[in-house]
Amino acid sequence: MPYGHGKVILLGEHSVVHGRPALAVAVERAVEVSFEPLPSGSHTTLHVAPWDVSIDSGPTPCAEHAQLQQALRVARGFYADQRELALSATVRLAGGAGMGSSAALGVAVLRAFDEARDRPQRDDEIYERSLAWERVFHGNPSGVDNAMATYGGVGLFRRGEPLAKVAPHGRIRLLAVDSGARSSTKEMVELVAQQLADDPDRARRLFDEIAELVWEAKRALELGDQRLLGALMSQNHERLRALELSTPELEKMRTTALSAGALGAKVTGAGGGGCLLALVDGDQGREAVRRAMHALDKQVYDVECGT
Ligand code: PMV
Repeated sequence: MPYGHGKVILLGEHSVVHGRPALAVAVERAVEVSFEPLPSGSHTTLHVAPWDVSIDSGPTPCAEHAQLQQALRVARGFYADQRELALSATVRLAGGAGMGSSAALGVAVLRAFDEARDRPQRDDEIYERSLAWERVFHGNPSGVDNAMATYGGVGLFRRGEPLAKVAPHGRIRLLAVDSGARSSTKEMVELVAQQLADDPDRARRLFDEIAELVWEAKRALELGDQRLLGALMSQNHERLRALELSTPELEKMRTTALSAGALGAKVTGAGGGGCLLALVDGDQGREAVRRAMHALDKQVYDVECGT
């Protein structure tokens, strides 16, 4: 079935928009899209089951889901023939919470259009097309979500460069914990851009410090040094907090996760809400952090990579 991967950013969100590297882990095949051909004269439809959203690519505006409708029209626009589809998506991610759901949905929808025509595009083409989808939502995406949604795995991403795959040593266990609050990625990216305009030296210093942490974290992953990786994630969090991307709720969740034994914890994705990402110590460590998060009434998503 056509699919797109979700992602969590281990380190490097926001500074990646400004040319620094980011390290990310895919949530493999987190979005899948099935399709049925529709008779000519109809419009392509998209149903996203867990969000209870139904839209079509026709001319009648859907006020509630205007951006998604626009993105679907963009995707449809890449396919010159007029064959219309009924698309149905399943999503195993917190939506709009820093797990890359919109890029994953875009990649899965594009692959569905391809598969329906029996003419699969190369991944590089899917990546480029999915950027056009993502721009509908985010204006100025770095491309990290789209690269992860397309290629999956663990990767080091830099704007304008191909995704460099990273091979972790040992099994890495992460929990993405949904704060329940939502923010607009576009607004959070603009908030950081404003800080860069107001005090360029300070913002650039923070971006450069985060970039150093990203390179160290890549080495820690490759060496299997999970304690170091956790410490680096927490240091990244301090810079994200300095950029006003955390919230009191995320701080409370972070303190709780660390008290329950997490090796490191940070805001992941755009911040201002969305998910906390915790690195946990083995299966037992994971269950301890999961229990602590459930006690706060939070929804928890497992993310794993490595061997
Ligand atoms: O869309 P989110 O919340 O997963 O965040 C994407 C990561 C950012 O660095 C904040 C934005 C970007 O385009 O890289």
